[in-house]
Amino acid sequence: MNNKNYATKLIDISISSNKKNILNNINYIFLTFRKDKNNNYKVDSSDNLISKDEIKEINSFLQKNNKQWSAQETVYYCNTKILSGVPIILIYLSNTTNKKAYDFQPSDNYILKESIANATRNLIKDMQKDIDLLILSQIDNKLSIQNIYKGVQLGAYKFNLYLTNNNKYKLSALIFSNNIELSKDSKMIKRAENECSSIYVSRDLINTPANDLTPKKFAKYISNDLTSIKNLKCNILDKEELTKKGYNGILGVGQGSVNEPVLVHLQYKGAKSGPTVALVGKGITYDSGGLSLKPSNAMISMKCDMSGAAAAYAITRTIALSNININIDCWLPIAENMLSGSSIRPSDIVKIYNNKTVEINNTDAEGRIILADALSRASEDKPEYIIDIATLTGAMVVALGEKTIGVVSNNNKLKEIITKSAKHVDEKLWHMPLVEELQFHYKSNIADLSNCHLTNRYAGGISAATFLYNFIDNDIKWAHFDIAGPAFNDSSPHGSTPSGGTGSAIATIIELCNQLSTKEEL
Ligand code: BES
Ligand code: ZN
Ligand code: ZN
Repeated sequence: MNNKNYATKLIDISISSNKKNILNNINYIFLTFRKDKNNNYKVDSSDNLISKDEIKEINSFLQKNNKQWSAQETVYYCNTKILSGVPIILIYLSNTTNKKAYDFQPSDNYILKESIANATRNLIKDMQKDIDLLILSQIDNKLSIQNIYKGVQLGAYKFNLYLTNNNKYKLSALIFSNNIELSKDSKMIKRAENECSSIYVSRDLINTPANDLTPKKFAKYISNDLTSIKNLKCNILDKEELTKKGYNGILGVGQGSVNEPVLVHLQYKGAKSGPTVALVGKGITYDSGGLSLKPSNAMISMKCDMSGAAAAYAITRTIALSNININIDCWLPIAENMLSGSSIRPSDIVKIYNNKTVEINNTDAEGRIILADALSRASEDKPEYIIDIATLTGAMVVALGEKTIGVVSNNNKLKEIITKSAKHVDEKLWHMPLVEELQFHYKSNIADLSNCHLTNRYAGGISAATFLYNFIDNDIKWAHFDIAGPAFNDSSPHGSTPSGGTGSAIATIIELCNQLSTKEEL
């Protein structure tokens, strides 16, 4: 991970509306199909590239034996008379449910993205040569091209950086649309490219094990990556500076590890008079629990405990690359939560950056301690918004499952925009309440606060947010994203979600910043 070129590369994707010679050198074609009003399966006609007769032939194949296709199913089809005999992968675009009252009904574009992602992953699974892929679908708006683009990029991601016999074959794709004039260099595709490359960065960082991603190496990765992003300023505070400035939460959590903690600060000024959003991401490179040690099974995926920091960085990076009209202050407290003779102990008291003292009842509730320092530092500059992202609590996973982000916020209008942004990019997210009464969890007899109730574990996800709220200044609009469930997928890949680090919350928060950049004050 030391080498700046050591990163998963994006797929080369072009967009064309010129059908001349388009089939030259193509190895595979993706062609989508749907069910029409009369329950007949029909291929998406692809803007005159396929003749009426060819379409008829494929449709009758799809209709054969009255087979019912299941949602997102793909089928291999090859016919010398059709599209010069290039092998076609037919992809059925359908919702997985017909019950319309479920929350998070997928949009057509989401189904398109997820189906293309699945088909792409299957196509490159056992690749034996370079593949040039042509993608044909019913493209009637720019958003569908963007979703096909994202589907290919996100579905093609695989964390191969540690495989000595890595597959060296390359996939290139061409999206054909006769309807929509959109080039590879258009703003919309550039934004998707920036977002996908940043999601790749976050996935690589999350998947890199903690022996190769120490806090300092994480910071180094960022400063190397920034050499190609000119409008982003970076300052890295090491142990000495953290000590001088009183970041005792970050220092306390990190003191048991031989790998010293850091605080990374990134600044992007994209708007002279526009709002400033402070992004704060939890960066625990490994969470063993510390002296309040985790059981071994709970520890196994804990290299992912820096997913919040990886997401905050990915968002900042995308916004800077896309020159979005907003100011970003990104704070990444990064530490390793280990146990040793120098570890922080249950019963120790630390003085947070804002001078509040916290008694540590449980060293496994470490995320809120490092966030306390970073949130108070972010609050000091009085940004309009603070958004924090963290794999904060197992309790949020118990509440919402592994696929849904839990959000807690102190501002109703901000909540509305968050809901809208998540819907726009089809991420599953649910608002949870901010309950003042839960502050009793954090009463300490000898310090201003404790970090965790000794016995009461009810509502652990939202009570953790209540703790964080102690470090947010009164008039700042704040939202806390708990991604403990969706940040890391420890089962099989599906759609645009790979195994391992996923890049959860990145698309939603980029869209949120995009919306805030064009809105007046809430
Ligand atoms: N990093 C964990 C939360 C977590 C759990 C992330 C599962 C990803 C998947 C966090 O630091 C933690 O250990 N939280 C404790 C808090 C408790 C001690 C109050 C938890 O959730 O059990
Ligand atoms: Zn923990
Ligand atoms: Zn943790």
